[in-house]
Amino acid sequence: MCGIIGYVGKNKAVPYLIRGLEHLEYRGYDSSGIAVMEGNEVITVKTSGRIKDLKNKLAGIDLTAKCGIGHTRWATHGEPDDINSHPHSSMTGLFTIVHNGIIENYLSLKKELLSEGFTFKSSTDTEVIANLLEKYYEGDMLSALNKCRRVLTGSYALCILCRDFPDTVYGTRKGSPLLCGKSAGGIFFSSDTVALLPYTRDVFSLDEDETAIINKKGIKFFGNDGESKEKKSERVSLPEQSADKGDFPHFMLKEIFEQPRVLKSTLDSLIKNGELLPDLRELKKSFFALQKICFVGCGSAYHAGLAGKILTEKIGNITCIAETASEFRYGNVPLDNKTLCIFISQSGETADTLAALLKAKEKKARTLSVINVRGSSIARESESVIYTEAGPEIAVATTKAYTAQLICLYLFALCFAHERWQIKRDERDRLLAELRLLPAKAQKIIDERDKAELFCSLFDGKDEGWFIGRGSDYASAMEGSLKMKEISYINTGAYPAGELKHGTISLLEKGTPLVALCCEDRLFPKAFANIKEVKARGARVLILAKEKNARELSDEENVFLLPDTPDEFSSLLQAVALQLLSYYTALKRGCDIDKPKNLAKSVTVE
Ligand code: F6R
Repeated sequence: MCGIIGYVGKNKAVPYLIRGLEHLEYRGYDSSGIAVMEGNEVITVKTSGRIKDLKNKLAGIDLTAKCGIGHTRWATHGEPDDINSHPHSSMTGLFTIVHNGIIENYLSLKKELLSEGFTFKSSTDTEVIANLLEKYYEGDMLSALNKCRRVLTGSYALCILCRDFPDTVYGTRKGSPLLCGKSAGGIFFSSDTVALLPYTRDVFSLDEDETAIINKKGIKFFGNDGESKEKKSERVSLPEQSADKGDFPHFMLKEIFEQPRVLKSTLDSLIKNGELLPDLRELKKSFFALQKICFVGCGSAYHAGLAGKILTEKIGNITCIAETASEFRYGNVPLDNKTLCIFISQSGETADTLAALLKAKEKKARTLSVINVRGSSIARESESVIYTEAGPEIAVATTKAYTAQLICLYLFALCFAHERWQIKRDERDRLLAELRLLPAKAQKIIDERDKAELFCSLFDGKDEGWFIGRGSDYASAMEGSLKMKEISYINTGAYPAGELKHGTISLLEKGTPLVALCCEDRLFPKAFANIKEVKARGARVLILAKEKNARELSDEENVFLLPDTPDEFSSLLQAVALQLLSYYTALKRGCDIDKPKNLAKSVTVE
């Protein structure tokens, strides 16, 4: 993970670096730092904590440098203290670098460098790169970088200052993203477009093993062989919504509230003149020949994939699997040109999902991605893309991007099933009409948020809890449990309701909070029986069910009723209710809702 930034220009570098880091803070917020070139001297200021702590540390230090680099960290090697914060310098201070990625063979390289007399201050893998550069440098940066590349295993995006070239920043990458952009005020490196958009919309995306040099003369690109390269910039569109919290106390709540609008605009953007997913015309030609669909993502995006799998299998009559990207990339699912792999990612930068996509491409599978961030790495690498119209999502816990992913996958399933003649036009249109009602139903849940606020007392004084469900309710249970864990730090498990008796139920204690999802009509009696079983053993149960089941549940104590919707789409309404439940639980516990500990918004290392 981590976010890196570099600047060279006419103005003081520090304000640009700080502003860039603020945009990149979603990538990690354990610690941060900057290094600038004051004349021929490199000044480094870094600290554990948030960017605001770095700003406090910088207050009162007048740095006039017009060239520098910056970093915001999600710790991988070494705890997030001041010493392990980036930037890191080589032994003599000749090189100072910031790094996003992981050097897998850093220990053996470090041992070798130590035996050669190099010294280290931190426990990071990054300092190894700084010292390696020093080892290989003989006056030519490109040649030193190429020598480093030959011995480094892992992933890296680097911004580098070298004392020999005071007005220059070097950028290079392998496996982690690095972009470059030029404006009237200066030239920038950044881990992503968000930090560049305030200055320019014309962005250069560095290829694997490519190096860019930025200085007063402009930008120059070089290939792995050291040959100079011509490169064209891409025009990046500006996000329509601002990344401002407005009057909301948290981004998460604001983003939950945005869902009705996001769902509607996502639907509107994907249906043109009655045609579903018109941008997939080429891919649709392959639908009849497909034998299997794999849904792949990480965390919540995987849960969206699970819901997509359940629906596509049900109405599309095709074998589907859903797998986490970290398993898929090293697993053995047979892939060929009769397999469609669907990659789901809000950021479009998740390292495991990207690697899974590259593997699918190598095996000649067809590829489709469901992505929020336009121009992101996964979007660029995919054969076809469906964009969620969620706009910038700032809270670390995904809400609006998740439900927008669900709506895209529902629409895909309808389109697929219809194109493959598994459902008739009438049935497709009936389901489509129901899909169009989801934004208003999500709004109803948000309007009645006092229910979620009330039911969150279920978790009062508890550090553990359960979520159970069957079928698509199980996919929702997994998402509800993850959301609760990540923002409220309550250790919740998600279980298929029918599996409890096979072991897990032995853990159930009197008073254990348990959220039972029972929105699958056909499985309602089974789910209800499971509720009775856990209640008989003392669980404190909250039931999420459809309004139409109100009568059957009239004797139950805690029932959170959701608007009726066909089973096909109930996971979306459950998600909204569960987001509110975890939000209010975390609020009550005084947690840092938008930036939970140990997490980052975008996971760019595996
Ligand atoms: C949970 C959450 C994460 C992400 C996961 C994938 O609330 O946000 O589990 O869903 O890290 O991220 P993307 O969608 O960017 O690939």
